[in-house]
Amino acid sequence: MNRYAQRRARLRGLLGDEKGIVIFIGNVESAAQYADNCYKWRQDSNWLYYWGIDEPRFAAIMDLESGVDTVYADDFGIDDIIWMGPMPTVASLAQGAGAGKSGTYAGFCDAVKAALAQGRKVHWLPVSRWYNAVMLSSLLGVAPEQVFSAGKKGCALASEPLVRAVVQMRLVKDDEEIALLDSAAALGYNMHTIGRKGIRIGRIEQEIVGDMEGSTLAGGWGVSFATILTQHGEIFHCHSHANAIEPGKLLLIDAGAESNEHYASDHTRTYPTGGKFTPRQRDIYQIVYECNELAFNMTAPGVAYRDCHLAAVRHMLDRLGQLGLVNGDLDEMVSDGIGGLFMPHGLGHNMGLDVHDMEDLGEDLVGYDPGQKRSAQLGLGSLRMARKLVPGNVITDEPGIYFIPDLIALWKREGTDKGRVNYSKLEEYLEFGGIRLEDDVLVTPEGARRLGSKRLPISPDEVEQAMANDR
Ligand code: GLY
Ligand code: MN
Ligand code: MN
Repeated sequence: MNRYAQRRARLRGLLGDEKGIVIFIGNVESAAQYADNCYKWRQDSNWLYYWGIDEPRFAAIMDLESGVDTVYADDFGIDDIIWMGPMPTVASLAQGAGAGKSGTYAGFCDAVKAALAQGRKVHWLPVSRWYNAVMLSSLLGVAPEQVFSAGKKGCALASEPLVRAVVQMRLVKDDEEIALLDSAAALGYNMHTIGRKGIRIGRIEQEIVGDMEGSTLAGGWGVSFATILTQHGEIFHCHSHANAIEPGKLLLIDAGAESNEHYASDHTRTYPTGGKFTPRQRDIYQIVYECNELAFNMTAPGVAYRDCHLAAVRHMLDRLGQLGLVNGDLDEMVSDGIGGLFMPHGLGHNMGLDVHDMEDLGEDLVGYDPGQKRSAQLGLGSLRMARKLVPGNVITDEPGIYFIPDLIALWKREGTDKGRVNYSKLEEYLEFGGIRLEDDVLVTPEGARRLGSKRLPISPDEVEQAMANDR
């Protein structure tokens, strides 16, 4: 009760002189084929953070002037009870969330309409689901498309003071949240260990995915995002798991678990399918490993995560130069964005209740300090977390090197690299695939620590040793 009341009191404080009402719309069940056969239930994360009620079809209003918080939902009648069992009353759930008042779901719509009719300001957050969009659209009289976040830029109509206040709060995890993130990381460790132990030549990727995901359901809420397990690591969101494990390949596993309290983990490891790296695989792997370590060792309060990204890319280009893949002045290569050919994504993102925490609120407002401008370059432009770090931030550290044949061909055709890339050498890597190594990191007052009590094997020697022990 206190947790949610205190969070809302702090939110009120951050909203300062803002007037009117703040509305929250929780998720509803979402039909997969028809209303009685739904997608897996998942509550909205902003709702969970401020109200905690893990049930569908709830809404709430914080009145900034009267100071009253009201939770709205419909009590179960006998028809609901027959099919779903008894449920605590809405009034008691509201009380558990520290709210003084409760009402019906229709009462929520009436209250919002009444506030609008009185000319009061209605503060709302961008939504991610169509039901919530249609709901907001009908209440506010704007097109449903206008209440979603448009990727990096966010949602122009949503209340910016509210978004900024929520971001400010959720960016810094308290001790209770950190304990929950540690437990999600432990689930992730277990999930990845099952994955690694399941690698055998001839097995179908799907079999490994099933074993991994089963463990997240046995120990928590399930996966925190759709598992990536692929021998085509260069395809970032490869969600096909239909291939047999082949000898001599690299298997990239990017997967996370969600705890029963809905906190996420997100780890990536890349394994040699036969248990031993080829010399070429080991060379590239070692570079990615060094970048992961370098970024982690830089991570500390006061450091902009953008600088960790740039330092990792600089080291990557330096080491790729030693392999003869690029040549040129390092600083110029970094500022010209040559790293984007090899790592066309950012070093990391915020993590918490969402694996990409608060991405629904707009990437720039979440991951960029006022005055920090997002780059347009490939790679750096995809950096979701650029901010100056503070204790309590939870971020991923996930450098990678990928050989993407179509991208290499495009750069060669268009001369994007300005003569820095040795294409005849690079074309020897067209079948290589990709490597990413990802850890979840908490910024502490002293520096940083990785979440979870155990780190998945990561150095090339540790990986080969673990795979040998697995046999
Ligand atoms: N799995 C998505 C990510 O690592 O950001
Ligand atoms: Mn990941
Ligand atoms: Mn990640």
